[in-house]
Amino acid sequence: MTNKDLKSIKKNFLGWDDYYKENKVEDMPWYEKNLDHDLENEIKSNNLDKGRFLDLGTGPGTQAIQLAKRKFEVTATDISQSAIEKAKKLSTEVNFFVDNVLDSKLSDREFDFIFDRGIFHLFDVSQRPQYVKQIKRILDDNGILFLKCMSNAEKNLPDDDMPHKLSKQEIMDAFENDFEIHRIDDTVFNEAFGIKPKALFAVLKKKFP
Ligand SMILES: C[S@@+](CC[C@H](N)C(=O)[O-])C[C@H]1O[C@@H](n2cnc3c(N)ncnc32)[C@H](O)[C@@H]1O
Repeated sequence: MTNKDLKSIKKNFLGWDDYYKENKVEDMPWYEKNLDHDLENEIKSNNLDKGRFLDLGTGPGTQAIQLAKRKFEVTATDISQSAIEKAKKLSTEVNFFVDNVLDSKLSDREFDFIFDRGIFHLFDVSQRPQYVKQIKRILDDNGILFLKCMSNAEKNLPDDDMPHKLSKQEIMDAFENDFEIHRIDDTVFNEAFGIKPKALFAVLKKKFP
């Protein structure tokens, strides 16, 4: 992927639907056919094998489809109608539909688990409280958010541009009032923008009550 491609993707971050209309999902920098390795490890090490999972900002739908193969009951949402239309053609096992996480139509306490792979890091600091409010509302009591985002340890991508490169402290600041911070690990995205960008993987449990 060239710098020109990168610029075009950034330009399109604000026009998700056009971006999904005009491009093949397999060519998108975040496309990962297999289940994200950090989530896979988490599922295996905690013997998770049932529950209601939301794949937030599902995009190509691959993560949702992999979760459904592991017998979870999976819903997957995205702000882009084109992304959802394309994903629906790949699986009937997942309940795909259009939803904006910042103004979500999902019901209170609808999920045991939520996977956010690359959505939280799109939002500015001012939008984070609204994101946290919605996640807290739609997670069941003691529900868990698995959050994967770009890390500020990644120095090969411009740090004043989207996606935001986050520190562990920024995750703690956003979530600590409403969530128990179980872990925030240093990790990588398998491949994006032609590199393996440094990432953070956080396990956040909704505080009860
Ligand atoms: C970096 S992509 C990640 C896609 C997918 N999670 C994956 O890992 O393959 C970010 C996704 O978030 C979606 N998105 C952006 N803003 C959103 C919002 N407010 N609500 C729901 N989805 C959103 C985009 O359409 C895009 O598919």
